[in-house]
Formats: sequence, C-alpha cells, structure tokens
Amino acid sequence: LISVRFSRTRRDGEPPLVNGWIPFLGKALEFRKNAHGFLAAHKEKHGDVFTVLIAGKYMTFIMNPLLYPYVIKHGKQLDFHEFSDQVAPVTFGYPPVRSGKFPGMDEHIQRSFRLLQGDNLDNLTESMMGNLMLVFHKDYLDGESEWRTESMYQFCNSVMFEATFLTMYGKPAHTNRHSGMVMLRQDFVKFDNMFPLLIARIPISLLGGTKTIRDKLINYFHPQRMSTWSNTSGFIKERAALFEQYDCMGDVDKAAHHFAILWASVGNTVPATFWAMYYLLTHPEALAVVREEIHCVLKVSGLEADHNRDVTFTREQLDSLLYLESSINESLRLSSASMNIRVAQEDFSLRLEGERSIGVRKGDIISLYPQSMHMDPEIYENPEMYKFDRYVEDGKEKTDFYKDGQKLKYYWMPFGSGSTKCPGRYFAVNEIKQFLSLLLLHFDMEVVEGQEPCSLDSSRAGLGILLPATDVQIHYRPRQAREEE
Ligand code: HEM
Repeated sequence: LISVRFSRTRRDGEPPLVNGWIPFLGKALEFRKNAHGFLAAHKEKHGDVFTVLIAGKYMTFIMNPLLYPYVIKHGKQLDFHEFSDQVAPVTFGYPPVRSGKFPGMDEHIQRSFRLLQGDNLDNLTESMMGNLMLVFHKDYLDGESEWRTESMYQFCNSVMFEATFLTMYGKPAHTNRHSGMVMLRQDFVKFDNMFPLLIARIPISLLGGTKTIRDKLINYFHPQRMSTWSNTSGFIKERAALFEQYDCMGDVDKAAHHFAILWASVGNTVPATFWAMYYLLTHPEALAVVREEIHCVLKVSGLEADHNRDVTFTREQLDSLLYLESSINESLRLSSASMNIRVAQEDFSLRLEGERSIGVRKGDIISLYPQSMHMDPEIYENPEMYKFDRYVEDGKEKTDFYKDGQKLKYYWMPFGSGSTKCPGRYFAVNEIKQFLSLLLLHFDMEVVEGQEPCSLDSSRAGLGILLPATDVQIHYRPRQAREEE
C-alpha cells in the first residue's frame, strides 16, 4: 500500500482531524473491516464529530444521533446526488445523468420514484404476490412432499431475485418465466461480490472478468428485448419511455440504467429477507407471535388459512401486520450498515445544537453512520440481541427512543435519510412481509441443528445490508403434506 503525506491542517472551528501519514487505501480497508469499531474508537478519542481521511476523501462523521437533524435538513449546502452521480455511473456503466448531456433527466428520474409508493404500491404488491407464489410453487412447493434440505441464503436469493425481477420488469411473451434466470442470478452474484470494490472506484478493468459479466447483465435489458415483455411495472415503463426521449442515449446506456435498478431492487432486499427469515426461524417465541398474527389477519378478512389454496394479502392487510413489521425492522437494525453521505457544496459553517457549529470545506464529505446508532446501548437496551417486538408498544408501532434523555427524531435508518431516503422502502418491506407470510403459511421449516450462529460479513460495510458470513442449512417441506398424512 502506498503511503501519502497529506498537508491539510485543522483550521479554527473545524472538527478534530485524524491526519498525517495515512496509508492511502489502508484506512479505507481498515474502515471496511470493522467500520463500527473504527468509528467507536475515534469517537472515544475525539468526541462526537471528527474528520478522517479515508481513501483520499476528507470525511466528517457526525456520531451523535441527536445531531442528525442538523445534517439531514441541510439540503442546499450538503448534496447527496453529487456523490451518487459520480459513483453509480462508473459502477453500473452508464453516462453520468447530471453531466449536462441529458437535460431534465435527473428531475424525471426523481419523479419516477413516486411510482414505487402510495397507491402505486397496490399494483406492485398484487403483482409481487402472484410472482412469489409462482416461484414458490414451481421450485419449492409442487412435486414431492417429503422433507428437503436447502441453504437459506440460496433459497431467499432464488425466490426474491426472480419474483422481484418479474414484478419490476415483467414476463416474457408467451410464458410466465424468463429463460436464463439462473444464469442471470449467478452473474449478478459475481458482479455483486465486486460491488464494494467498484464503489471504492477500483477500475473495472482490474477486476478480472467483472467487465464481461457486467456487459452480459446489461445486455439482458436491451430495449429490443424489453419491448417484448409484458406486465412490466409502471415504474420501469416510465423510465424506459423517458430514456427514449433522449436521442443521444444509446441502447446499451438505457440497458445499463435498467440494470442499476435491478441492483437497487434486489441488492439489499435479498440479504434483508435472509436476516428477517433467519431471526424468526431461530426465535420460536417470535415465530409463534408472528404466525398467530398472520392467521388472525386472514381470519378477520374471512380467509381462513387453507394450505391448498393461494391466499392474497392486500396492502392494508400487510400494513396491519404490526409484529411481523417490527420483527423485520429489528432484523434490519441488526444487519444494516449503510452510510449516509452528503458533499459540501461550499465552505460553510454547519450549525449544530445550541451555539455549536463546525467549519466544513467545499468538497468535504459529511457522513452519518447509523449502525453506530442502531448498536447504541443507551438507545437500544442489549443492542446485539434480537427482540422481535422492539418496535411495538401498547398495540401500536413504538416510535419513542431516547438519547441523553431527549427523544430522538432519527433512531432507525436502514433506508437512509431526508431527501435521499430509499424510494423503494415501502415496496421492500412489503415484499419481505409477503415472502415471510407465504413461507409461514405454506411451509414447515426449521434450521438444521448444530450450526454455529450466523454472523455478519462486513465486506460491504457502509453500502447497505450486510451479507451473512456463512450460509445456514434448513429443512423444509410443503405444509399441506402434514394435512395429508
Ligand atoms: C437508495 C436501502 C430496497 C430502490 C437507497 C439508499 C439506501 C437504500 C440506504 C440510499 C439512500 C441514502 O443514501 O440516503 C435499501 C434497503 C432495501 C432497499 C435496505 C431493502 C431492504 C429497494 C428496492 C428498490 C430500491 C426494493 C426498488 C424497487 C432504490 C433507489 C435508490 C435507493 C432507486 C436511489 C435513490 C436516489 O438516487 O435518490 N436504498 N433499499 N431500494 N433505493 Fe433502496
């Protein structure tokens, strides 16, 4: 690793600066290996706001969640999109949207996100339900009814990847499933393994066959091919129509945009589904409450659980699954390690609480690292423990969490914050609810005994939901099998 001497010195009013002889990439790797521990150690030494040079960037970390609102509300001087518009195009292989070459496109893209929310969720939810049942039936429920063994991550990946793909992009002409889905998924996993390096701006040409794999993935979304698909979501249709308005945008560029959305829609959802399922299956008391809740919701709607018949959940029914939602939120709290990044647009003084403010220089990055908040014992008692009902109180969603005796505005942030909050968050939680509900209704399932507890693989710290370090073996069988015995 190269050591580089940086000459920046701390100015009056600026936060403590961790500077000096810093291995250029070394700090970044140290950070990635144990971001939470790295930040906790610096907080101990320098207080709740400090600046660190990581991979050539001056990053100011705001560690106290009571200060988060001061960063999140600063829209104008602190910009998120500058960062994403530099990193995402290089990672996914499309030209930068805000380069001036595509006037108006950025605003249209932002507007298209509404098609993932509100009333538009009804269609997405209905479509997702059908697609989940399709994949569950064809690959896991139909046929032999004896106990089978499977790897849990593999199971979540194959079901959620294909069902989400079908829901977003639609199905091919004359058939319900895309050919080559297994290959697409495998290529996606290979690309995804390189994702942290691409985000760290390691040139793709240095990453072995990654460029060839990415080209193949992008090609899957060639506009000519996509035009033959039906049942495509309104979100993807609107984006495809938008790209058609720009003559200077090539077919491969359009395809690369669609590929980026594939990553956004499954890259975090699959590991999030894994953790939600893993924690439920390894906590029988949680499983019992959640299962009961699902049966109750179906009963109230006059739909007794009947394993031989497909049930559907409306958006309202999904919304009413309070314990299921809390259990998902809790697993997201434990597994998410996303970093919220803003880039300073000018030299300015960022006002924090009371009289306190910090000097920030143009181009500096202001970072929030919510994992530190999610694991703060003052906010969450025994933070490393999974408590499925942590977010339920008096039969309602619990929203009051405290630090230093003050109620926190932000206490749960796996989806980011403010204007850059994930636009797919409602859909994501809904599809995980659907997945788990169907799982509990249609399968007998258990984690194979004698396995070590599953731990987090920290290689994508800062980038979203962490993957499990090892896969977990499960036994399952279609539930109706028991009735027939
Ligand atoms: C952005 C998390 C699922 C679409 C983001 C961000 C986070 C995130 C942390 C960045 C926000 C920021 O930095 O402030 C997650 C998690 C998911 C999930 C944890 C699953 C559990 C989805 C799904 C979709 C989606 C299912 C689409 C169907 C997007 C898009 C952006 C984004 C398009 C970029 C927004 C922009 O450019 O402003 N997500 N996401 N996400 N997410 Fe998600």
